[in-house]
Amino acid sequence: MARYLRSRTRYHGVLNAPQRAFLRSIGFKDEDFSKPYIAIAVAWSEAGPCNYHTLKLSEYIKDAIVSAGGSSTAFPTMVIYDNIAMGSEGMRYSLVSRELIADSIEAQFNAHYYDALVALGSCDKTTPGMLMAMARLNVPSIYVYGGSAEPGFYRGEKVTIESIHTAIGAYLRGALSKEDIEELERVVHPTVGACAGMFTANTMASIAEALGMSLPGSSTPAATSMKRIHYAIESGRAVLNLLETGIKARDILTYSAFRNAATVLLAIGGSTNAILHLLAIAYEAKVKFTLSDIEELTGKVPLIARLSPASEYVMTDLDSIGGIPLIMKKLLEAGLLEKEAITVTGKTIEENLKDYRFPNIINQNIVRDIGNPFKKYSGIIVLRGSLAPRGAVVKVAATEKLVFRGPARVFNSEEEAFKAIESNSIEEGDVVIIRYEGPKGGPGMPEMLRVTSAIVGSGLNNVALVTDGRFSGATKGLMIGHVAPEAFVGGPIAVVEDYDEILIDIPSRKLDILVPEQEISERLKRWRPIEPRYREGLLSKYASLVSQADEGAVTRTHS
Ligand code: FES
Repeated sequence: MARYLRSRTRYHGVLNAPQRAFLRSIGFKDEDFSKPYIAIAVAWSEAGPCNYHTLKLSEYIKDAIVSAGGSSTAFPTMVIYDNIAMGSEGMRYSLVSRELIADSIEAQFNAHYYDALVALGSCDKTTPGMLMAMARLNVPSIYVYGGSAEPGFYRGEKVTIESIHTAIGAYLRGALSKEDIEELERVVHPTVGACAGMFTANTMASIAEALGMSLPGSSTPAATSMKRIHYAIESGRAVLNLLETGIKARDILTYSAFRNAATVLLAIGGSTNAILHLLAIAYEAKVKFTLSDIEELTGKVPLIARLSPASEYVMTDLDSIGGIPLIMKKLLEAGLLEKEAITVTGKTIEENLKDYRFPNIINQNIVRDIGNPFKKYSGIIVLRGSLAPRGAVVKVAATEKLVFRGPARVFNSEEEAFKAIESNSIEEGDVVIIRYEGPKGGPGMPEMLRVTSAIVGSGLNNVALVTDGRFSGATKGLMIGHVAPEAFVGGPIAVVEDYDEILIDIPSRKLDILVPEQEISERLKRWRPIEPRYREGLLSKYASLVSQADEGAVTRTHS
């Protein structure tokens, strides 16, 4: 079959008898040691719905590999469910888990001498962590998404997990009762699978498809759909084809692939977290794809999809009208995709989409033509200026406000800001600044969904938020995150004072403190670093290695 099988160096010959003995005891036969040995990395955990079902799904992948002439064993990776960690100390571990997932796959894969990798997961950090591992290992690899949950229905209206975060804000201002919340909580996430909107998990699944690392059409079906079994089986077969043809992860993860993924991200107005993750995957693939490349694309790619949190439509609605291939075909025909990029099918993007026919659906208001977009500019915009010299990102798909000027209300942690909103001390027109929540300072850039939902839910319609932390993909409103450099390393956000005037100008891509330059540099001279929040354990270790947000917040090991 394949030209070179690394597994043979560990499972062939007399001296490797101890290793074979272990595999014999779990059912391996003589002939299995001559077959390609395929790893299935499974993000599986019973601690929440997103990856609850993946272990079962992995069995279909394994059966397909065995039927197609390979041997295979599966191993687990960890999962942090952001919806459980959100708004707590635990959220500091979320982005860290992306690195742990990548590291654990690398360790398991290399220690056990596998030949190729299938990775299966369905939560915010599992997809990027797994793609980072594939890029780092540079072996034949395919990603399989576990799928998103079906949406819930509350008193006849479609709801997602974002609805209950916003409802908490409404409860705090007395617009909803405890009974309303309890009723919503029982219906909001009715099945297994990832959070239903175009939040981070579904955005990253779309990106895996756009990168060419998962099968066309495989990112949008629900976790409960029979299509999941189909894609699991097809992915098992596809990995053996990749091994046979010698196509490795970095053959797919080229500069063109990253441009394609960023183009799809901007066209669908996906989660801002995807920017961090794309930069991190590019770092592992050793591809020079930077925030400036994304910035350049934001001027070219229109917003053609409107999905939750920007509308009521969820991932399964997108699936019902054609999925990511629908988006990619429109972008391809408009000349916005690099058509020669190779994918896990062994074919190029153009070849994959050649026979795709636009579905004959009228009256859908989810995806539009390139010539008639929802917005002429991208769903995510990169801002720069005196407040963020190395960049910041804003999701414009979920806000109508493009220019905002107002006094800063400064908080040195998410908790402080939440208390201020709870006690009604934020006023219309304010710009809430939350700092010391960046990659090193947080550490781990905790997501601010609790705060952003409290702002929206408490009826504050004219408030902006700027932070060196991150946002959930479910965040709505004028929320700017990933400010770099972060406060902890002495970025200008560290010296903003209460009632400094802040200017957010999306059409001009500016994020400025309207304080004289001289005054800012004097404040920066007086600024002193604060004590780190953690001096031991994983968070301390992570903080000492992590890069800034404009570099993907990766734990750096090479330049
Ligand atoms: Fe898993 Fe939302 S917490 S996708």
